[in-house]
Amino acid sequence: MKTITTTIIIIVFILSIFLFPCLILSTDSITSTTSLNLNQTLVSKGQVFELGFFDLGNNNLYIGIWYKQIKKRTYVWVANRDTPITSSSGKLTIDDTGNIVVLDQAETAVWSSNSSVSKANTVAQLLDSGNFVLRMEDDEDPENYMWQSFDDLTDTLLPGMKLGWDRKTGVNRFLRSWKTNTNPGSGDYSFKMNIDGFPEVYLTLGNRTMYRSGPWNGRRFSGVPEMKSVSVIEFEFENNSDEISYSYEMSNHSVYSRLIMSSSGRLQRFTWIDSDSTGTWSEYWFAPRDQCDDFRKCGPFGICDANASPSCECMKGFRPKNQWAWNLRDGSDGCVRSSELDCGSDEFLLLKNMKLPESSKAFVDQSMNLSSCAMICKRNCSCAAYANMDITQGGSGCVIWAVDLLDMRKYADSEGGQDLYVRVAASDLGTFLNFSTDMTYALTAGMVQVDNAIII
Ligand SMILES: *[C@@H]1O[C@H](CO)[C@@H](O)[C@H](O)[C@H]1NC(C)=O
Ligand SMILES: *[C@@H]1O[C@H](CO)[C@@H](O)[C@H](O)[C@H]1NC(C)=O
Ligand SMILES: *[C@@H]1O[C@H](CO)[C@@H](O)[C@H](O)[C@H]1NC(C)=O
Ligand SMILES: *[C@@H]1O[C@H](CO)[C@@H](O)[C@H](O)[C@H]1NC(C)=O
Ligand SMILES: *[C@@H]1O[C@H](CO)[C@@H](O)[C@H](O)[C@H]1NC(C)=O
Ligand SMILES: *[C@@H]1O[C@H](CO)[C@@H](O)[C@H](O)[C@H]1NC(C)=O
Ligand SMILES: *[C@@H]1O[C@H](CO)[C@@H](O)[C@H](O)[C@H]1NC(C)=O
Ligand SMILES: *[C@@H]1O[C@H](CO)[C@@H](O)[C@H](O)[C@H]1NC(C)=O
Repeated sequence: MKTITTTIIIIVFILSIFLFPCLILSTDSITSTTSLNLNQTLVSKGQVFELGFFDLGNNNLYIGIWYKQIKKRTYVWVANRDTPITSSSGKLTIDDTGNIVVLDQAETAVWSSNSSVSKANTVAQLLDSGNFVLRMEDDEDPENYMWQSFDDLTDTLLPGMKLGWDRKTGVNRFLRSWKTNTNPGSGDYSFKMNIDGFPEVYLTLGNRTMYRSGPWNGRRFSGVPEMKSVSVIEFEFENNSDEISYSYEMSNHSVYSRLIMSSSGRLQRFTWIDSDSTGTWSEYWFAPRDQCDDFRKCGPFGICDANASPSCECMKGFRPKNQWAWNLRDGSDGCVRSSELDCGSDEFLLLKNMKLPESSKAFVDQSMNLSSCAMICKRNCSCAAYANMDITQGGSGCVIWAVDLLDMRKYADSEGGQDLYVRVAASDLGTFLNFSTDMTYALTAGMVQVDNAIII
């Protein structure tokens, strides 16, 4: 009886080798002794992601990662995006330096994980997060990964991936679009963290900026009011000794979401709606959204208001620099001061719900409060504006702009933007308050308060 059972098992096993070659390699990893050919894939343990070769009908072979459960193929990562295999076969394996390599038919490497750590006994594993990692066989500690696809972004930001600067390696991870819908090669659009000044993320076409997120104000990017603390997605921004990065997590891991830099220049967040067996990706958010998202739409000191017509406005104390163009609805020359500043008597105009101005040249002090920030700005004649760095818990930190204020926009309600205080000649504000006297008085009384700002 026992031998019969054993024999059956052996027969089934042998049959399966011949009938289902793919099933034999139904695993989540490869080692130096195994490899992946055209007809095989790796599947993560929880069946979330799948990795393998694909071609989009133009005889170029790529190694990529897609969702295992979603029938409409959705690629989230491509290894050899700029070096496709043009021969009819290829292989993914681990070479003798311990690196992951993609080989063409002639066994020439078209792509390598390039880890400088050269070791035997490495294993490349596809995780349920969509991360493809290279590690030592007996070491699963993420800190010790020798390489990971999450450090080598394509056009997609998945939950847990970090967009931004790794201070230790000096790598600034960013999204780069596909060339076209059917060509995963590096396209012209990028979405990249600018770490200078008050960090924010820029969407560029080649070397031209098209849109920026606005800096992180503790709750959201200053220019993305839609980033409300929605139940399913948790946004994170880190600035510490290791990194400056943006990432997000799903509170319900069975909900799929991805942020992509599309080949048409649109930043899009999709969420998978599994209404029936087919399912669809629904567009949850996109940018740029409207004309006010166009970079520097209203020029220096100009403010864009999508609900106004014309959409460009000059704040109190300013007038259009080029009235003729302004009348023709071209606000790109921006605004100039009606009266010159005299430094000592200048006042600050409070603008509410503002996307903060371009911040790469801004000065940031995390520990200063708004009153001290106001004083520093007031004292320095080149300071054009100031704001809180973080708007949570009543506001904290100080940002100062000593440059022309560019790319500002105004939101309709407090769900967008934040308070911004702009230096304006006192004579232009109508009410003439002697700021320095008030300030001196307040200082003496031991309670610094900048309350002579005016709300428009
Ligand atoms: C892959 O599968 C196709 C058709 O299913 C077959 O023609 C081809 O020989 C296979 N290639 C390899 C490398 O197994
Ligand atoms: C590996 O190095 C080669 C040569 O320096 C480079 O062309 C290639 O882009 C690198 N691959 C990765 C994944 O960084
Ligand atoms: C980021 O962190 C660094 C180091 O901790 C700090 O010096 C800098 O002020 C911070 N910048 C912002 C914008 O938070
Ligand atoms: C941007 O790219 C264009 C075209 O490639 C080039 O002519 C121009 O000089 C570049 N500008 C800068 C600031 O690098
Ligand atoms: C998570 O999402 C799935 C699919 O949308 C849903 O069926 C499930 O109830 C959710 N779980 C929680 C805890 O919200
Ligand atoms: C702001 O900071 C200054 C200097 O540290 C301090 O004297 C002042 O009390 C603070 N003001 C408020 C409102 O916390
Ligand atoms: C005023 O601010 C500018 C820009 O931050 C700085 O370069 C300059 O040294 C400051 N001047 C004084 C007197 O603090
Ligand atoms: C503000 O008040 C101070 C002290 O009284 C005075 O010296 C200064 O001239 C006043 N400034 C203006 C613009 O009136």
